[in-house]
Amino acid sequence: MKKLIAMTVVVLMVALSTGSAQVNAQSPMILGENHAMLRVKQGKKYLLLPVQEKEENANIAVLNGHNEMVKRLNVRLAVDKVDYWVPLELSTLNSQLSTLLDITFHGDRRQTGAIKDFACWKEMTYSDTFDTTNREHFRPLYHHTPLYGWMNDPNGMFYKDGTWHLYYQYNPYGSQWENMTWGHSTSRDLIHWDAQPLAIEPDWLGTIFSGSCVMNGDEVVAIYTSAGHHQTQSMAVSKDNGRTFTKFSGNPILTSDVPDFRDPNPFWNEDIQAWNMILAVGQEMRIYSSKDLKEWKEESRFGLEYGNHDGVWECPDLFKVKNERMKNEKWVLVCNINPGGPFGGSATQYFVGDFDGKKFTCESMPKVTKWMDYGKDHYATVSFYNAPENRRVVIAWMSNWQYANQVPTRQFRSANSIPRDLGLFTYGEETYLSVVPSKEMLAARGEKVKQPTEACEIVIDVKGSADIILSNDRGEQVTMRYDAQQQTFSMDRTHSGDVGFSEAFPCVTTAPTYGSIRQFRLFIDRCSIEAFDAEGKMAMTNLVFPSMPYNQLQVKGGKATIYEVKSEK
Ligand code: FRU
Repeated sequence: MKKLIAMTVVVLMVALSTGSAQVNAQSPMILGENHAMLRVKQGKKYLLLPVQEKEENANIAVLNGHNEMVKRLNVRLAVDKVDYWVPLELSTLNSQLSTLLDITFHGDRRQTGAIKDFACWKEMTYSDTFDTTNREHFRPLYHHTPLYGWMNDPNGMFYKDGTWHLYYQYNPYGSQWENMTWGHSTSRDLIHWDAQPLAIEPDWLGTIFSGSCVMNGDEVVAIYTSAGHHQTQSMAVSKDNGRTFTKFSGNPILTSDVPDFRDPNPFWNEDIQAWNMILAVGQEMRIYSSKDLKEWKEESRFGLEYGNHDGVWECPDLFKVKNERMKNEKWVLVCNINPGGPFGGSATQYFVGDFDGKKFTCESMPKVTKWMDYGKDHYATVSFYNAPENRRVVIAWMSNWQYANQVPTRQFRSANSIPRDLGLFTYGEETYLSVVPSKEMLAARGEKVKQPTEACEIVIDVKGSADIILSNDRGEQVTMRYDAQQQTFSMDRTHSGDVGFSEAFPCVTTAPTYGSIRQFRLFIDRCSIEAFDAEGKMAMTNLVFPSMPYNQLQVKGGKATIYEVKSEK
């Protein structure tokens, strides 16, 4: 302890004698076993923070020259080895004043190790650039991913003036879940995405959890969950087509004493000429109405006796869908649930019924559970607001909370699914959602090729049962089987490549096919396989991590055509 005090004095003396502006990043002021301060040098755009993923988070309070906290973030600062760096942007802080980082470490190593020796001090660097060049062989080529860092749920998706906007749950300071912020990407074709600046950053009401956007005249209005000590709902408005948002001064706009109270999804309901909003609360959904998007009246609750309840209900959506064949429309309530999915962990269930602006009535018996996708990596699915041609386009986060933080990528973690269009079909007494790859995927079809590639679409015509094996030269393989008698499709990824990072990863997933299938479409993109029945009665999304791309295809009982998928990346 004496040594520590003596050392602190020396560091402080150096700091005082050189003048604070000259203290460089390598010279922290050590204040205790788990506490240090660092005076930030001015002039560069970024301070690059070294991350070691297996370490505990360090909490960094960023103080401006008036000793006011302007930002707070959690970073797994490196102790003995650097996995990668993340950029703390300095240019947006007031560069006229000196900036101070007040850093509190957590975890066992902090008590035993002398924090002055932690690798983070030596490895912090100032820079005008941050390199986002792809360094990961698992980064998909035609799926949306963040440039770097962690991503989970798609948020606030909307379409306006030819541009698709996709926000997402984002950690700009590491590739594991933390510091929830709304990242933002835009696309003209739903396939090529341009990264945009951060859209909504944490504030003193909390980090920014999932939510949704609507258009109100010229404004884009985001309603999202502020995750502080409690979860409350907040609003932010954009006057520049969703590029930047200003938070509403009356936040929070909706509060509750229930701990799981989140993921608001508002929409304009033509039928009642008012706004509705659906919100996940524990294991049920609450439905609200409003005239101005600010004041919300609770109208009803849905779900306690319905569907699957083996987890928390999250990320709801509520919309009308057309049944082209029956020439009618029904309301569908989407409910993501975690855990409780058909193969463990996260999955998307839905209910079909009617909605009168106040109450959703499910047309199935309470115990009926319907899943939108029968893979293991399809979660937090929600739809784009205002999609053209009355389409209902959805995107899912392609991962599962059971292992999302451990998948073998580093520079980024998680991709979104390809866009899918929803419709309805009936089988027996029940009406189900049909899920097909959006038509934009056809536009992305490239040349026919002889063997599978790392980014391809495989179309397989079948007459009855079929076996499909995708494999590579190292014997890693994914086995799929369509059983026409049982009316099931299954995918086995137990020998697909790296499956050892989580016990929950190796698995066989099986889907009902609701009648026979004549054509399958498989979309392969480096670390994912999405399988569809061309008519939309079956969808299955699974991650795979082969040590080299699958380059061989064997099909028994069917005829395959392989196409490259065009991507500019
Ligand atoms: C779903 C979820 C949401 C929440 C968000 C936090 O994956 O748990 O309910 O808003 O992630 O990142």
